[in-house]
Amino acid sequence: MFFRLFALAFALLLCQATPAAAQKRPRPLKANESGSTFRSRFGNPERAADSLLRLMTLEERIGQLNLLTSDLDVTGASLRPQYRRDIEQGRVGAVFNAYGVDFVRKLQETAVKNSRLKIPLLFGYDVIHGHKTIFPMPLAMACSWDIGRIEAAQRIAAVEAASMGLDWTFAPMVDIARDPRWGRVMEGAGEDTYLGSLIAAAQVRGFQGRGIGDVLSVMACAKHYAAYGAAQAGRDYNTVDMSERVLRDVYLPPFKAATDAGAATFMTSFNELDGIPATANRFLLDQVLRKEWGFKGFVVTDYTAIMEMLFHGTAKDSAEAGMQAILAGTDMDMQSAIFIKFLPDLVRQGKVPEAAVNQAARRILIKKFELGLFDDPYRRLSPEREKANVLTPAHRLASREMAARSCVLLKNEREALPLKAGIKRLALIGPLANAAHDMIGGWSAAGEDKHSISLMAGLQNHPALKGVTFQLEKGIDVEKPEPADLPGIRKAVDAAQGADVIVLALGESKDMSAEASSRSNIKLPGSQEDLVAAMRARYPNTPIVAVLFNGRPLDLSDVLGNVDALLEAWYPGTEAGNGVADVLTGAYNPSGKLTMSFPRNLGQVPIFYNQKNTGRPENPKEKYTSKYLDVPNDPLFPFGFGLSYTKFSYGAPQLSATSMGMGDSLRVSVTVTNAGTRLGEEVVQLYVRDLVGSVTRPVKELKGFRKIRLAPGASEMVSFTLRAKDLAFYTAEMQFRAEPGTFRVMTGPNSADVQAAEFTLR
Ligand code: BGC
Repeated sequence: MFFRLFALAFALLLCQATPAAAQKRPRPLKANESGSTFRSRFGNPERAADSLLRLMTLEERIGQLNLLTSDLDVTGASLRPQYRRDIEQGRVGAVFNAYGVDFVRKLQETAVKNSRLKIPLLFGYDVIHGHKTIFPMPLAMACSWDIGRIEAAQRIAAVEAASMGLDWTFAPMVDIARDPRWGRVMEGAGEDTYLGSLIAAAQVRGFQGRGIGDVLSVMACAKHYAAYGAAQAGRDYNTVDMSERVLRDVYLPPFKAATDAGAATFMTSFNELDGIPATANRFLLDQVLRKEWGFKGFVVTDYTAIMEMLFHGTAKDSAEAGMQAILAGTDMDMQSAIFIKFLPDLVRQGKVPEAAVNQAARRILIKKFELGLFDDPYRRLSPEREKANVLTPAHRLASREMAARSCVLLKNEREALPLKAGIKRLALIGPLANAAHDMIGGWSAAGEDKHSISLMAGLQNHPALKGVTFQLEKGIDVEKPEPADLPGIRKAVDAAQGADVIVLALGESKDMSAEASSRSNIKLPGSQEDLVAAMRARYPNTPIVAVLFNGRPLDLSDVLGNVDALLEAWYPGTEAGNGVADVLTGAYNPSGKLTMSFPRNLGQVPIFYNQKNTGRPENPKEKYTSKYLDVPNDPLFPFGFGLSYTKFSYGAPQLSATSMGMGDSLRVSVTVTNAGTRLGEEVVQLYVRDLVGSVTRPVKELKGFRKIRLAPGASEMVSFTLRAKDLAFYTAEMQFRAEPGTFRVMTGPNSADVQAAEFTLR
């Protein structure tokens, strides 16, 4: 009875969405007004959703599960008739790839004015590293190891996205990635589970701010669930097969962290796991996500992932694929339009219980209530906010600072960097010297080249380089089919004549990473290595600085010997040139550290620091040990590695005790000194090895880090606290717990260069 009354009241409220009743709406929010104090007039979103569901036909409920891409690119601001009809008929619950207050309003009005129940649409988009103000690609931001700034960057992304009418971002991407062939490594935080989990949670906090009811927040979507980063051979969309132990120890924790941080939604991945496509994987969706972790939001598929089950070969037709997906716990169908086409009949035939549809629709409607869309479907559509909150100087400054902090200095000899104050002629050479287009990298949302700063512009405008003469020459393209572009190389080398320093801007073009952009060769593409070699040969005494713009760890073994300094700048975003110029000039002393290992060659891949020891650990003197004939096992640059313009020296780790009980904690302290001559920041890292376990344990695992700032000559004692829960893993019995025994604690500036101490856990 109560529910009937509630439903009736609800229906009346919905009718108020008509113009006649419009004056009863709460007043629209003004520009910059935060909705964080927003309280829905519908009270409890769960109860409101239940009431609404009672008013809905089966088709309307299924309509809520349908997510379609907008035709923004095809038709501009006008709507295709079929698209409009689908929305009017309540056959669409959410739209993606539509943003901008005017266009979103047009779509929203279609739903709210013309559909029977006037249920507002939800607007989603891939806001991965900025919306209009583009930040460095996520892997680059991870290299800052600056969790606060990462959160702040995604907060800015949310403010811009929400101010342009969006409710939802398809981010963060929290896939652990250990294979640089995979083009999507650029979207995640790298190879480490601990760091990846912290960054996952920070991004969720950034996107969702003080809650999704805030007009300046968007819903986060943890993706791609799960284990997508382990695609065999680094080939996108490829098969994934791993033990449940590796899945739980390595790949799932960042998703769990996103859940705990309150991520409103999850996205299934394209891959199969143990033979079952993720989109129909009950173990992942029902057992782990909902039952074990208590996730309360909704799960959307990746793009046409339900349809792709036909290709995976686990469904004979679309209807069966749709049935498998919804029964496994998928709520929303992105772009397959299979739920909308087949679920009505599947329910009528009794193949899918109506309760499964209701449950999925309920989860989606609850989020719409929480977003405040039923209170005011246009609440994120303020032209004032759109104008005021996008590409602001403050956002650009944050992006510039992040660009500088994401750079990783891999080599610096002969004091090539920072650039000397007295230089008169600087040769800026290479295919990415003046490439504003590439600087924002893949998945750059609504970012536009016209706003981004090339390295050339950044250097030319930098106050520290005032009066310097620039010798500019692109020379060659990023990629050019064999044979080597000899005329281009000659031109480039000639152009550097007489320079005091040569800066080479090299790397990959932005389309060489991100989705569907795996590479089977991770060297610098085209003739770039030849260019570097030719430059070194002609100018043996001129400092050569290579700045790399790329989306993945590269094989740099044939570049390293020919340059004096090597700066990994990744794709730095809108403020690329300015941020990188800050580093090159020394205005900012680089502090980034790699979060993915750089291999010596592709044959070492997958390569990651937290590997197992094996029964025959590498011993160069013993033939029958686990190693290669032609290359050592270690990477060219290890996880956690990155140089500074100053030097940090480390003391040995000191432990507060040599033994601790299961309920105790132990303090690990290490003294770090700035032994150089410049102010600098350092990421102090803590690793642990469990020496004997009921199952084999990694040779080391990151368990803590601190980013500190030290003046020349200054020292700081950095302390970490370890508890038994920090040492837990999935044991032989698949229980998540720490086992008693001896542990090695390691501290240092990167995963390879550490000093150790030991303690026992009782
Ligand atoms: C990608 C997702 C993305 C979706 C929507 C897919 O192809 O795998 O990461 O969110 O498209 O654009």
